[in-house]
Amino acid sequence: MKFLILHGPNLNLLGKREPGIYGSQTLEDINISLGELSSELGCELLFFQSNSEGELINAIHNAVQDCNGVLLNPAAYTHTSIAIRDALSAVGLPCVEVHLSNIHRRELFRHTSMIASVAIGQICGFGSDSYLLGLRALFNYVKNQ
Ligand code: DQA
Repeated sequence: MKFLILHGPNLNLLGKREPGIYGSQTLEDINISLGELSSELGCELLFFQSNSEGELINAIHNAVQDCNGVLLNPAAYTHTSIAIRDALSAVGLPCVEVHLSNIHRRELFRHTSMIASVAIGQICGFGSDSYLLGLRALFNYVKNQ
């Protein structure tokens, strides 16, 4: 089993970016923890981060060739990107949406997700644990399919 771990815009700045909201872990730290969990679960991961909507969409299109699902933090594109939503819908890969912060406790514009309706589920508010919980959920979902 192989999963695409897809990180959206500004997540490359984790560790320095608003640590009161997003924590002190870097994206590299999060990817390392995901890698450790993947060894425990016995699956393979492919990591990709981009600040560009088109590159995220291309990564989703390419994932269909060799991935069984997508773990996605769309970051700010969560709230705006019908194009990313349509890409997920087009490829039909199971997707779990994750966020470090609880988007529902923040500004009103963050309460809406364009992605949620095409995701298996959404996990938010647990910092880097959101990713680890998300990978477990995605793995179990695909295993039981
Ligand atoms: C985020 C929440 C988004 O609203 C925000 O734009 C981000 C990060 C999160 O992980 O908490 O960039 O997706």
